[in-house]
Amino acid sequence: MTSSHLLQLEHVNHTFDAGRIVALRDVNLDFGEGESVAILGASGSGKTTLILVMCGIRTPTSGVLRWRGEPISTLRQWTDLRRTEIGIVFQDFNLFSTLTAAENVEVAMFGSGASTAERKRRVEEALDTVGLARRATHLPQELSGGERQRVAIARSIINNPKLILADEPTGNLDSKNAAAILDLMFDLQRARGSTLIMVSHAPDQARRCARHVNMKDGQVVDQTFAPARRMRRLREPSRTRLSQSQAPARAIHPHHPRRGVCRRQLHHALRLVAQCA
Ligand SMILES: Nc1ncnc2c1ncn2[C@@H]1O[C@H](COP(=O)(O)OP(=O)(O)O)[C@@H](O)[C@H]1O
Ligand SMILES: [Mg+2]
Repeated sequence: MTSSHLLQLEHVNHTFDAGRIVALRDVNLDFGEGESVAILGASGSGKTTLILVMCGIRTPTSGVLRWRGEPISTLRQWTDLRRTEIGIVFQDFNLFSTLTAAENVEVAMFGSGASTAERKRRVEEALDTVGLARRATHLPQELSGGERQRVAIARSIINNPKLILADEPTGNLDSKNAAAILDLMFDLQRARGSTLIMVSHAPDQARRCARHVNMKDGQVVDQTFAPARRMRRLREPSRTRLSQSQAPARAIHPHHPRRGVCRRQLHHALRLVAQCA
């Protein structure tokens, strides 16, 4: 399933506290296009740090990261990659609480150069893909945990990224929602041919990935690849795929009472993003 190099890590180290805490120790990894990878390991083994280093949110203390063979070192390079090629899904959703579902997704398109109409069209499409078209005007607090994570997934795919990084994406969900979110993520990964790298604690979730990277004390201690036959079976589209018709009914607010606040918050958020970029 692996094709050309997408993201490579060479001798990557990351320490905290002036070197007293070693989160990553000489990590060497090579991820290809279209791969599904589970990052496994006990709490504190460096999984989250690895995810954050792979999207440029954390700068490694030493070592090299390459995107399609090119070394990536500057913040500007990472910002551009996150805007166009890398989508991220966090355990705690990371949504703006005062923005609607649609606005939370739209934030990720800032700086893409897309017109307002194009942004609106793509946000609607992304929310529809995750089965949330009818929740576009809802605030995060009006959505269930599973729905919030679907908003975060819509945000992560809005720019059609080649790589999706997910740090325990189902960690805050009950088992039914967790299964539905995973189905959605794997369906999207297959349909779009993107690479999915997912931190997971649950063995049944990890089994759905073609490759397992096991970490211990900041080091990659072992890597395994699933037999191709099992992966072919798993590639069948899931039966529990979320869709709008299956989503629980909820009143729609065509004119959300806090809409004006949301708009202002959106523009504030966009300004912040622009300053960071
Ligand atoms: N911001 C931080 N400051 C200091 N130490 C940190 C920080 N983030 C993580 N660590 C430490 O780095 C190690 C790896 O953490 P982490 O990557 O979060 O592991 P995991 O996600 O596998 O639980 C742990 O010892 C953790 O305490
Ligand atoms: Mg973690």
